[in-house]
Amino acid sequence: MLSSFWKTLMEKAGLEQNKTNLPLWLLAEVTYKCPLHCVYCYNPLDYATYGKELSTEDWLRVLREGRELGATQLGFSGGEPLMRADLEILIAEARRLGYYSNLITSGVGLDERRIAAFKEGGLDHIQVSFQDSTREMNDFLSSTRTFDLKQKVARLVKKYDYPMVLNVVLHRLNIDHVQQILQMAEQLEAEYVELANTQYYGWAYLNRDRLLPSREQLLRAEEITNDFRQRVGNRVKIYFVVPDYYETRPKPCMSGWGAVFLAVTADGLALPCHSARMLPGLSFPSVRDHDLRWIWHDSPAFNAYRGDAWMKEPCRSCPEKVKDYGGCRCQAYLMTGDAANADPVCDKSPLHGLVTDAVERARKLAAGSEREAQARQRAASEDEAQARQRAASEDAMFFRDDANSLSLAGGKKQPSA
Ligand code: FES
Repeated sequence: MLSSFWKTLMEKAGLEQNKTNLPLWLLAEVTYKCPLHCVYCYNPLDYATYGKELSTEDWLRVLREGRELGATQLGFSGGEPLMRADLEILIAEARRLGYYSNLITSGVGLDERRIAAFKEGGLDHIQVSFQDSTREMNDFLSSTRTFDLKQKVARLVKKYDYPMVLNVVLHRLNIDHVQQILQMAEQLEAEYVELANTQYYGWAYLNRDRLLPSREQLLRAEEITNDFRQRVGNRVKIYFVVPDYYETRPKPCMSGWGAVFLAVTADGLALPCHSARMLPGLSFPSVRDHDLRWIWHDSPAFNAYRGDAWMKEPCRSCPEKVKDYGGCRCQAYLMTGDAANADPVCDKSPLHGLVTDAVERARKLAAGSEREAQARQRAASEDEAQARQRAASEDAMFFRDDANSLSLAGGKKQPSA
């Protein structure tokens, strides 16, 4: 998931960038393979049906073209980017080309040999994600036994003198652990902590009713975070990102469509945001068929929502459109069925009720979350397969895995363990 740390940089860059209309940001989603199965993953539901991954040569060309086009920030993401055995080659090329490069990882697959090679190759930054401060919840949410491994990886990151950026995606099932999460971050000597509330796309949108926290949970977590900030001062920089659903104005998603950000997927599609692939009526170009310059400047998909000519009311006549660009196209599509609608997070949208209804449902469901906590506790004493099977049948959560992806792509919405 694109992190708030990077989004902040991107938004700052966006101010400049919107003047020049060149992408500063290239996100290389080098693989959809992932050893984890997170229920809040933003990856597309049908990822398991996608074609062959780009080759090393393809990626080297993409990196070159991105740099020629003006990109300076490069994120390696996925899936889990460590699943690519050629990551060392890509990192070294990124350094040679002059990118500032960032590895966005779960940590699974990072050992001393690889991190030493990344350092040698010139990787600038590593962001490690945890699911929670407890082994039980971390392992449940990712459907793996990876908590101890992540602790080791966090220590390796420090040992190799990288700034420690710890990312924890928050939702109803872990937001009450914010105090412990911050303590864990302190123990791991994190310099940056991202408490990024789930953004509801992909698998997270599918599981939204199980994940969206209540307003009370959110307020408590923010208060704890503010107390912690006061105590640690500048030693730890904390980003606390509120879920869109509790805002009344939409986020300026991607700093505008085709303004700053360009993502390339594992199978070669170029996208103006990491979720755009599911939008109907747009044909996203492949880097196998076109160079990034044509894709960025001339492809119909990258021009579809550029500027404001596409906007309908209430965005069209809204003075705030220069700040928020009408919000998020993907969220507008997911919730209203039309990507050209105002993002329903905005309380000027006639469809804002879709958001407030979801919030109200979250309030009611959070009140019944005691049963969930008990179920999690039981999961700690079961083996992985049993835990997933039981969780799927009791909670109807969709874990991100190939079997569920194939079944969802085939139109069957039954989760499987
Ligand atoms: Fe696609 Fe916001 S995530 S425009």
